[in-house]
Amino acid sequence: MKKIIALALALVMVLALVACGNTNTADNKYNTITPGVLTVATSPDYAPYEFYALDKDGKATLAGFDMALAQYIADELGLKLEVVPMDFNGILGEMAAKTADLAIAGLSPDPERLEAMDFSDTYYEGKQAFVTTKENAAKFTDLASTNKAELTIAAQTGTIQEDLAKEFSPLAKYVSLPKATDIIGELIAGTIDGAYVEWDVAAAYQANYPQLTTLCEVPYEAEGNVIGVLKGNTALLEAVNTALNKCVDSGEFSKFVAEALELAAGDTANYVEGEGIVPNA
Ligand code: ARG
Repeated sequence: MKKIIALALALVMVLALVACGNTNTADNKYNTITPGVLTVATSPDYAPYEFYALDKDGKATLAGFDMALAQYIADELGLKLEVVPMDFNGILGEMAAKTADLAIAGLSPDPERLEAMDFSDTYYEGKQAFVTTKENAAKFTDLASTNKAELTIAAQTGTIQEDLAKEFSPLAKYVSLPKATDIIGELIAGTIDGAYVEWDVAAAYQANYPQLTTLCEVPYEAEGNVIGVLKGNTALLEAVNTALNKCVDSGEFSKFVAEALELAAGDTANYVEGEGIVPNA
């Protein structure tokens, strides 16, 4: 009898262990940094990708099609979404340090970044632009005309647009700015002559600041936007690709883009160091 009890007890313990093991894997089947949570790094200075939209009471919320996509993926994976806003350059560091599961920030699949992260499939066809103001437009005729020593040209720190500035305007004085919204501010203030930014970002800010104008498209090889996935987390990469393709193929993503464009044309805000979230003029 004793033997049977001992056996039964042992069996209960084994079953309990197996159950425990199962719950643990089920809890974190995508190996996210925090079980049950999808930690997403972004740089919300980038309408219509990610930005702060103001509602009618002046309350700022993170908006943009990247943010809608982040929520969609989190829901598909059954995870709670946690978005961590930071400057773009910080995202690259964060991914290299493996402190975020995903980078969703209008990221270009620059092969140099593959050391720090894996890339999802492409979810958006972004292209590059050279932006200036209507006031400065007479200084330029084409992309080649941006390459002059008397010009001051900017791009966002850590972005592929910095490479474009060095490639197409090497003679110009180069200014590296931490936020894309800093670039818009400097352009309007007249402290810089032009800047390299993503095409749709240029268009979105032009909707709010009619002083801005796009000179031309800028050729760039690693086209389109991808999601950066924590290096080596193949379970997460596969799940992200499945969710992302479902989102795009079902037409849901097109709706996110339309919504983001509409919000970006309305009141937006910007994070200012030391001041917090401040409405844009
Ligand atoms: N596509 C460019 C890159 O990957 C710029 C991205 C900037 N993103 C942002 N949210 N500010 O380098």
